[in-house]
Amino acid sequence: MTATLLVDIGLLATQDAELGEIRDAAIILDGPRISWVGPVASAPPADERVGLGGKTVVPGFVDSHAHLVFVGDRSEEFVARMRGMPYAAGGIRVTVADTRGAPDALLRLNVERLAGELLRAGVTTFECKSGYGLDVATEERSLRVAAEFTPETTFLGAHVVPPDTPRDEYVSLVCSEMLDACAPHARWIDVFCEQGAFDVDESRAVLQAGIARGLGARVHANQLSAGPGVQLAVSLDAASADHCTHLSDADVDALAGSSTVATLLPLAEFSTRSPYPDARRLLDAGVTVALATDCNPGSAYSTSMPLAIALAVREMAMTPAEAVRAATVGGATALRRNDLGVIAPGRGADLIVLDAPSYVHLAYRPGVPLISQVWQGGKRVA
Ligand code: NIG
Ligand code: FE
Repeated sequence: MTATLLVDIGLLATQDAELGEIRDAAIILDGPRISWVGPVASAPPADERVGLGGKTVVPGFVDSHAHLVFVGDRSEEFVARMRGMPYAAGGIRVTVADTRGAPDALLRLNVERLAGELLRAGVTTFECKSGYGLDVATEERSLRVAAEFTPETTFLGAHVVPPDTPRDEYVSLVCSEMLDACAPHARWIDVFCEQGAFDVDESRAVLQAGIARGLGARVHANQLSAGPGVQLAVSLDAASADHCTHLSDADVDALAGSSTVATLLPLAEFSTRSPYPDARRLLDAGVTVALATDCNPGSAYSTSMPLAIALAVREMAMTPAEAVRAATVGGATALRRNDLGVIAPGRGADLIVLDAPSYVHLAYRPGVPLISQVWQGGKRVA
């Protein structure tokens, strides 16, 4: 294996508690892993040496929440929203109608396109949900396609109840035949616990069925209204409660006393013109926070983790350091992956080179393409 020494790193924000931020840093990539991190002056020799021009290096972003398996777009719904129509869960059914008719090749093309966008936006690991099939065959093939691109696949058969199906019949289908078909291709199970989607008993039944099949739990919780989703997530030791836009004090306390990450998705609030989640309240209570894109054709059609970071800083009172942490090690924690999200010996060699003197520029220069290099598994990929 070739060992590559990265030098001339003006600022390295490792996200490792002990290593912290290092100026004039160097990193050694040994195949797909990082083998050494420190000041360039004490770097050991390696097979090859790559200069990074004094730029900033941070870990590759870990996007722990994305819905990429679909076809079609809902730009008309977006335009209507910008004229004052509220966002509602029911819009999902429009994408379901388009997705069911699409051959695998088309689903694959869409995931490939969005995965490419994510990579160029600095995302080196992403989670990908099903949830636009809502029948056994389409959910299964959605997950098969997703699994071609990422190990972090999530069965979201319980996204909404499809048209013309009684809800109790649909919940039983999700918990039995659909889960049987989908579990072999999924690592996670997710449910949209919300008015207009699934209530707490239905959500619990779906999550417990998935857990019984060996899947990890994650929950779309408290997105559009206050509700029981966060408490349900914590009670089942879900890896993540996602959205967390409308929280009670009891919800914040429950998260703080748990290992469930609060995954915040500001691109959804941006695109639905909704109030942003209160990140400050969560962080001050000691909750682990992740930032993710939520990329989907309805509520947040963006793959831009840098924009999510900028919104988290501008609209959610996170410091730039907290936002970058949430987009890297926070996302890794939300996926229960302790091999990712940190630049330290033994971790995956996934990192981003920013054309800026500091990661603060991700928020300070919103909308500017600052990602100048992306390294994944020890190789430069963008
Ligand atoms: O995370 N909330 C549920 N699912 C997506 C939206 C899906 C859609 O509108 O197509 C979300 O916001
Ligand atoms: Fe989502």
